[in-house]
Amino acid sequence: MNNMTISSNTNVTALLKEYALPSPLGFGRELAPIMYRADYMDGAWKQGQLIPFGEVGINPAATCVQFGQQCFEGMKAYKVAQSSPALFRPEMNFARLRKSAARLCMPAPLSGIFVDAVKQLTRTLEPFIPSESGQSLYLRPTLLGLDPTFAVKGSERYCFLLIASPSDAYYTAPIKVMVEREHSRAAKGGTGSEKVGGNYAGSLQATERSIAAGFDQPIWLDAATSKNIEELSGMNFMAVINGALHTPALSGTILSGVTRSSLFEIARSIGMDVVERTMPIDELLTDIRTGACTELFACGTAAIISPISEIGDTETRQALPDVDNVARQLKTILLDIQEGRGEDTFDWMADTRDTDTLIKRLNGAPA
Ligand code: COI
Repeated sequence: MNNMTISSNTNVTALLKEYALPSPLGFGRELAPIMYRADYMDGAWKQGQLIPFGEVGINPAATCVQFGQQCFEGMKAYKVAQSSPALFRPEMNFARLRKSAARLCMPAPLSGIFVDAVKQLTRTLEPFIPSESGQSLYLRPTLLGLDPTFAVKGSERYCFLLIASPSDAYYTAPIKVMVEREHSRAAKGGTGSEKVGGNYAGSLQATERSIAAGFDQPIWLDAATSKNIEELSGMNFMAVINGALHTPALSGTILSGVTRSSLFEIARSIGMDVVERTMPIDELLTDIRTGACTELFACGTAAIISPISEIGDTETRQALPDVDNVARQLKTILLDIQEGRGEDTFDWMADTRDTDTLIKRLNGAPA
């Protein structure tokens, strides 16, 4: 705990006695008063523990600060109709964290530490997990390189933090997306398919431009040709075309979303075809004009499903004929599973009480 500026003696239980959820919650605004920290040093992960939430004393020359040697995940603990907090496909987040960490030469936390973090934090925060539909305890597993150096190299010390936010869904209304033709989010061989902070920092200027033009956020095209749709800054993209669900194929530059792949299975279960392919933006805009494409939406852990009401740029914009039609159907099935109202036909949910099963699931996840 050598990097903590807050006292590690501060009593976690006492902190929670004082704690109350604000209303409204919003997304990611309210940060839970406790978090979990584990440290990696001398070539090994040390057991972590719950500590008060607060600023961590990061050296200004640390590799996470200077070179962006950091990655994170977004996952949720649900307690709506469940008797104890449940996680949605946590092995997928763990596998992606390992992939992101490997890409940046960082040691990922061991499955036992990841499970200990999620279990301890969700169980301790259980009374503060909001229970209305759409709400959850949003969890941010975060991995940081700590060594101070101005030389471009990895650290030998890392910390794994699990921080939490009792949250609503990210967006409450349909969004308008602007086709981004100036910047790119990711190029082949880069870090677009990993969940690293730099991907998001690089999206901020285009987001500002899109908002100034009357949209909510950009939709990214591929860096090589600027012709094919990739994803939104924090969500995957989907279109309903002639009744089928179309989405950009994973090309190495797109994040492999947990919600994305879950929606494929849900769509197929209700008889929809799922088409993963190269999606030229010009073709999509024509499909909207001719009526072949009836609906667009974005999806992700934070957003769940976010209907898109308009797509365009500074010159032209097109409204979608259907907003939140198929999206709502898919979201209802997904939320019924996540929130414990519906049968978990895909075996996606994991009880946070069941450590052995959690570890088995995480260890079974592809590297
Ligand atoms: C998530 O959906 O969990 C994300 O991490 C995307 C964004 C909010 C950064």
